[in-house]
Amino acid sequence: TVPRLEPSLTGARIVPVLVLDNPAEAVPLAEALVAGGLTTLEITLRTPGALACAEAIAAKVPGALVGLGTLIRPEQFAQARDVGARFVVSPGLTDRLAEAAKAAGLPYLPGIATVTEALIAYEHGFRELKFFPAMLNGGAPALKGMAPLLPEIRFCPTGGIKAENVREILSLPNVFALGGTWLTPADAVKERRWADIERLAREASTLATQG
Ligand code: 3PG
Repeated sequence: TVPRLEPSLTGARIVPVLVLDNPAEAVPLAEALVAGGLTTLEITLRTPGALACAEAIAAKVPGALVGLGTLIRPEQFAQARDVGARFVVSPGLTDRLAEAAKAAGLPYLPGIATVTEALIAYEHGFRELKFFPAMLNGGAPALKGMAPLLPEIRFCPTGGIKAENVREILSLPNVFALGGTWLTPADAVKERRWADIERLAREASTLATQG
């Protein structure tokens, strides 16, 4: 059977998607996001240092719930577990990834972009899916269109989402959370402007709680 996502993830509402390479930068960045009210963090496996960054945040930032994203190979489930990740996210889904997720027992959010892909994920037992890349694939209207077809499925859209899209997307009944990189602009991270990131996180949390 498929491990279900924890309420701490399904209730997250806004998940910062982080592209990190340096643990010394990752920890203060995560602290700023948590201070701003965003505690569920997805660290993407897109850099050589991503695993070390995830491990550092999981070990050193109280209150952060760390997941690994951009997971594309079955062996990465074990790596995720080893660094203390509590969930994993893929941009898509294959049969091998679905089997590895079940074997690993780690909550898993597989990505889909079409109704057929959603049905394949559904047949594997998944009920919470990442809709990716969300804005390229129709954004809120596309999610609205899928609701009557797939009443048991709830989505976390990511890809191209900005602050101005948050309210509309989170208002959809088949959306449990959304994610993106807009909360951690590359220049702010490079210049270590943690107060700016905390402010962006707080603005986003406020949008989410205002519904
Ligand atoms: C992801 O992996 O979810 C996306 O890369 C996030 O997309 P964004 O950079 O457009 O927010």
